[in-house]
Amino acid sequence: MPHIINWDELARQARAAARQAYVPYSRFAVGAAILTSDGQIVRGCNVENASYGLTNCAERTAIFSARAAGMSEVMAVCIYTPTATPTPPCGGCRQVLNEFGPDMAVRAICDGADIIDTTLSALLPGAFGPKNLA
Ligand code: THU
Repeated sequence: MPHIINWDELARQARAAARQAYVPYSRFAVGAAILTSDGQIVRGCNVENASYGLTNCAERTAIFSARAAGMSEVMAVCIYTPTATPTPPCGGCRQVLNEFGPDMAVRAICDGADIIDTTLSALLPGAFGPKNLA
């Protein structure tokens, strides 16, 4: 399990992911890069749909891709938006992230100087998760 998070690499991958965003409706591109406990980095972007409610956020795309590739635990997520201020993960994504990393580190970056540096447990206190079903 990596104890040092390479935020520069996660940021690079989150920026690259945002370039793949499919956002014809909102024009709001989001890229996410997650670091798994075995040191893999998996990217995701938001993928919108003509039936708007079926849109998938970048964070969830990354989580689902990582799981499909065999991941079991997430250490960190970096979220990038090409905006002046950083964008925190939406409520639904917080819940999905929690499933695989209730203690993960969360960083949101943008084209401005501001950074959000936090943890999932701070963003989703008192979360419902796998432990509640055990
Ligand atoms: N979006 C994300 O990808 N992640 C978030 O956490 C917030 C919202 C996307 C969904 C939609 O494609 C666009 O941003 C505007 O809501």
